[in-house]
Amino acid sequence: MLSFQKLLRADQINKGDLVKLFNRADIYKDKLSKSEKITDLDGKILASLFFEPSTRTRLSFETAMHRLGGKVITVEDGSSSSTKKGETLEDTGRVIDQYADIIVMRHPKPYSVEEFSKYVTNPVINAGDGDNEHPTQSLVDSYTIYSEKGSLENLKVGFLGDLKYGRTVHSLVNILSKYNASFKFISSEYLALPDKLKTVAKNNSNSFQEYQTVNAEILEDLDVLYVTRVQRERFDNQDDYIKNKDVCYLDKKYISAKNNSIILHPLPRVDEMDKFIDELPNAKYFEQVGYSVPIRMSLLYSLVNL
Ligand code: NCD
Repeated sequence: MLSFQKLLRADQINKGDLVKLFNRADIYKDKLSKSEKITDLDGKILASLFFEPSTRTRLSFETAMHRLGGKVITVEDGSSSSTKKGETLEDTGRVIDQYADIIVMRHPKPYSVEEFSKYVTNPVINAGDGDNEHPTQSLVDSYTIYSEKGSLENLKVGFLGDLKYGRTVHSLVNILSKYNASFKFISSEYLALPDKLKTVAKNNSNSFQEYQTVNAEILEDLDVLYVTRVQRERFDNQDDYIKNKDVCYLDKKYISAKNNSIILHPLPRVDEMDKFIDELPNAKYFEQVGYSVPIRMSLLYSLVNL
């Protein structure tokens, strides 16, 4: 039993929820590796509503539902649904609630999934609302860290790139702040972490330092380095994007031989990091993708069976 029925923000997920979600994800991961047939959501339907581009989140949710023996209904993209004709999110919510047992939704407007969820009785999952939050990516990220590092407690975590618009960063800071983390926030001044998230870190007595440049020394003692894409589509002014996009480029030479941190990235990546980093044993971003299906299976199962 989880402490929430609708997953809209990462701060809803408490430590007990994570234990339950990780334990079930471990079971699914094991079954998937043995190609065991799973029928836990046989007869159930997921509605997948993406009003913004997505590859990983959408396909991994849909894969997760299929692997659980459930079915998926979807609109091809936001532009082929009735919202294009002017239907409100409120009415869309009331309608889809009657078709599906659970709804996953992505939307470009911050807080819109929360607004939509008010008109839905079934579970709703926020798969990204503008530059606000992406709580299920933070489940993927924290499950990856837990699996690769053995624990989420007392970690030194560096966040690099677009900390202002990067919703996956916002959600992961919320989660890791519950585990006595030491953070390094590394970005251009323009792309710094919003104050409200620094407050989350402070209020939970985590320590943090901010840097406006990146070098080997800053990264040396981390347990986790979380790299993000500069979110071009969120800038009001493309000149600001050009000015900021390369300020914290991650060069392979910054990852020294004694650097033991795992390197994560929610993907897609563009040109914020050196492709040769892929060759390092620390690079775990493709493994991270592998963790996304069992943890999303675990979430879908747990919400449908609350
Ligand atoms: C991220 C997103 O959509 O916020 N991608 C993802 O869900 N894995 C990160 C990004 O777009 O940069």
